[in-house]
Amino acid sequence: MLIVYYSVSNGNTKRIAEQLQKAFGADIAQIETIKPYSGSYNEIVDQGKREVDQGYRPAIKSLSVNPAEYGVVAIGTSTWWYTMAPAVLSFLESCDWKGKTVIPFQTHGGWPGHVIKDIKAVCKGADFSHEMAVQFDSTGGAEQVTPDKEIETWIKQMKGEN
Ligand SMILES: Cc1cc2nc3c(=O)[nH]c(=O)nc-3n(C[C@H](O)[C@H](O)[C@H](O)COP(=O)(O)O)c2cc1C
Repeated sequence: MLIVYYSVSNGNTKRIAEQLQKAFGADIAQIETIKPYSGSYNEIVDQGKREVDQGYRPAIKSLSVNPAEYGVVAIGTSTWWYTMAPAVLSFLESCDWKGKTVIPFQTHGGWPGHVIKDIKAVCKGADFSHEMAVQFDSTGGAEQVTPDKEIETWIKQMKGEN
């Protein structure tokens, strides 16, 4: 199993991805844009809105691993304006998902939107299982709202079936 995640604000998504990584001893890789986002949180929120509205796909660095070599790929994104972060869209469109099992997960601040549905629409030909949304606080901060227990249950269910 490979875990691929994108995390820019507080490392919220990174935290969840690392929990999975520890539980499964899986490989892990981070999606990064070539041009880093800069400015205040609110500036990034505004830039993100423009990018999502325009369907922008930022250029991303090549991953440290080759997703083609894995049968199961967990994909984690923070929520950007009710959908996945643009960098995740760039990544998903760069891979062939046929025959793979994708585990989509998101972090959000209370407005999860249609992230999981959008990931499913882009990963053509994949099977999906164990989708998960983890809520953090509504101000874009690092305080986890979803209880740890729910995350543990999610991991246990994955272990039961994989
Ligand atoms: C550009 C941008 C847009 C966001 N849009 C949403 C949103 O639509 N719904 C929501 O619940 N949270 C939204 N957030 C909050 C983040 O999804 C949330 O804080 C997430 O956990 C951040 O993850 P990270 O620390 O891994 O980047 C947005 C944050 C940013 C930077």
